[in-house]
Amino acid sequence: MNLNITKAPFGIRPPVTKPIPEFLIEVKEEGLRELISKHYDKLRTSSISNLFPVDEKDFAQAKVNSADFFIQICGGRAYFNENRGAPQMIGRHAPFRIDANAREVWLELYKPLILELEKSGVTETSLQSFWGYLDIFSLWMINTQ
Ligand code: HEM
Repeated sequence: MNLNITKAPFGIRPPVTKPIPEFLIEVKEEGLRELISKHYDKLRTSSISNLFPVDEKDFAQAKVNSADFFIQICGGRAYFNENRGAPQMIGRHAPFRIDANAREVWLELYKPLILELEKSGVTETSLQSFWGYLDIFSLWMINTQ
């Protein structure tokens, strides 16, 4: 599997391809919620923990919001639209200072979790497609030089 992190100059937003439907079919909603939860737990003890909620309730809610979004973008039920409205991810990230380093940390924390999913039987094709989405769309979230 190629878990490469694409480099791009500040402000470049390459076209994004959503994960293939097979990814959600294989991982299932529950598996995707678990993945997001584990990623948030890693963020909490990372060098970019300052960006994320400290309060337990807020932190738990952040996991729900994020998982709602990922289920939706992966072709599942539109939980995010139902609970939070239009995704508008750039705007929602605007209050946080996300630079190229924060993106790399954020992405790196996904790598071991994706390898875990591969071990548990999720196909490489699906995981590669999910990674491709994270790699490119995360470039869009960089808002600080
Ligand atoms: C580039 C690295 C990224 C960083 C550092 C980052 C950071 C953050 C922060 C600080 C928040 C607000 C705190 C919270 O509610 O968790 C947040 C929320 C969120 N992020 Fe990101 N993010 C990144 C990339 C992404 C990407 C690529 C996606 C989607 C593919 C995404 C989806 C979300 C969602 C759905 C929320 C919740 C928004 C809401 O509650 O309405 N983030 N992110």
